[in-house]
Amino acid sequence: MPQKTVYLETFGCQMNELDSELVAGSLGALGYTFTRDAKDADIVLYNTCSVRERAEQKVWSRLGDMRTAKHDKPDLVVGVLGCMAERDGKDLMARMPVVDIMCGPAELDKLPELLDNAVRTKSSLASDDPDKARRRSAKQIALQGSASRRSSTLAAAGDSLESLDLGRMVSPIDADGRRSAYVRITRGCNKFCTYCVVPHTRGAEIHRPPQHIIDEIKALADTGIIEITLLGQTVNHYRYEHDSAVTLDGVLQPQKGRTYKGSHHRDAFAGANTTTFADLLYRIHEEVPAIQRLRFVTSYPRDFGNDVLEVIRDCPRICRYIHVPAQTGSNRMLKMMNRGYTIEEYNEFIDRTREYLDQPEIGRPLMLSGDIIVGFPTETDQDHELTKQMLERSRYKNCFIFKYSPRPGTVAYDKIPDDIPDAIKRIRNNELLAMQADISDSIAREQVGREFDVFVEGLSRREHKKRGTDVKPGSGMVGITINGAASKAPVAVLDETPVGETVQLSGRTDGDLIVFFDVPSDGPTKPIDYIGQMVRAKITAADRLNLNGELI
Ligand code: SAH
Ligand code: SF4
Ligand code: F3S
Repeated sequence: MPQKTVYLETFGCQMNELDSELVAGSLGALGYTFTRDAKDADIVLYNTCSVRERAEQKVWSRLGDMRTAKHDKPDLVVGVLGCMAERDGKDLMARMPVVDIMCGPAELDKLPELLDNAVRTKSSLASDDPDKARRRSAKQIALQGSASRRSSTLAAAGDSLESLDLGRMVSPIDADGRRSAYVRITRGCNKFCTYCVVPHTRGAEIHRPPQHIIDEIKALADTGIIEITLLGQTVNHYRYEHDSAVTLDGVLQPQKGRTYKGSHHRDAFAGANTTTFADLLYRIHEEVPAIQRLRFVTSYPRDFGNDVLEVIRDCPRICRYIHVPAQTGSNRMLKMMNRGYTIEEYNEFIDRTREYLDQPEIGRPLMLSGDIIVGFPTETDQDHELTKQMLERSRYKNCFIFKYSPRPGTVAYDKIPDDIPDAIKRIRNNELLAMQADISDSIAREQVGREFDVFVEGLSRREHKKRGTDVKPGSGMVGITINGAASKAPVAVLDETPVGETVQLSGRTDGDLIVFFDVPSDGPTKPIDYIGQMVRAKITAADRLNLNGELI
């Protein structure tokens, strides 16, 4: 088969970014090459998100463009991957005949086969014969559909899904110098918040075996990765029950995970053969010391035990950053959203977390972040007032604020009319954004004079602008490492920096604050060699969430 070139664009959350990387890895190993320009591609793939209507609209508009592109290039293969494929299913195909391949997020291990079928069908049938033309448009579909939650198929689903992560093509640090990677620990979600499509698109919650996770992190560390972000929709609910296993001497024994011995708060329900989230964090910290930063998203503000807080407190390489969305400050709304906690419980969690983890005196202030939905059905001014109080009290370093978007298939869509006018949603949204901007600003100012370890990620935005290399890796585009296909590596331009100039780099603290600092182009360490390293910086100035620092 002739070599085919793929354009892969990613929308949505980190889970999707990881999926795209895994997909790119498996296709790269099969000989596909990648381009950053859809015009050069034989195959265009969109890894899509369904969480809000706007996310889907972007993809519709891309598909519209593809209709024109296909007119000029009839052999072009177009695929929709991810949550939108799963949610919209065959309706999407009917509305958009330009789509050749649909592949849900739980079926991505089948993508190479679907792609191969689609490419072969096209090339073998290239002719004007109408019958052949019909066969040429044969669709390749892999969706999980309603099977996802049948318990009989759960184990099988777990096994086949596992192959995608297990087959990760661990490649050397990519051309962008990134030394950070995502690792999935839990798939799917069982919470069924009434507004949310994720349980419908990603299927039932399945926890990955701890040994697979550790092995994957070790393999990543061996290639030079030093920052890992563990992914799960409710990441702190990770829990793996080990089966009994027969040992070499034939005795039946429970397989023990290594538990966090320092904990006074061992989860009372976790038996000897359970690996809890605290256990998993501890194991990674102890068994892969090359990982200098261990993060996790997204936390669910329920069942977040002190065992987890203790592990974070006692393990220096686990970051003091917790993304823990409240969604609203009103108990009435929380109930309608089916979140399963009250605002009092949420506040208690925030206080407890600060008590355990906030230690600015050792240069490790705790940073929290959140998500809020405004304009959920029936939300009153009073409910909104309660959300404002919650936002003020939580003091997030940053908070994502979304206008409620009714999603077909969810309980809220079916049962609760979307009765808050868009104008009100917008006002509430803007109010909260303004409040958060002030909070972010004051948190940033508190950091002035403090010293931090900063993990250097790359050129700052300003530097990119100055150099006309304003390509932000990861924003809608996967930094593809396979076959060295990253055509325009932003850091490569550093080699052309004139002597005597400074270069502005950016990095992050362990609390996920962004720090900018300048380095000379002709100092003992070349600017490019800072990228992917940990440096120590003192904060000299702050503006909004941007911190400026100098190396010490
Ligand atoms: N599992 C995570 C969230 C995943 S979705 C959690 O429970 O916290 C990311 C965010 O999108 C959510 O936190 C929520 O704020 C927002 N969101 C989800 N569905 C939405 C909808 N229908 N309309 C508006 N925002 C939504
Ligand atoms: Fe969606 Fe709720 Fe699951 Fe988060 S916990 S993914 S908001 S259903
Ligand atoms: Fe979107 Fe699916 Fe993630 S709906 S937010 S891509 S889990």
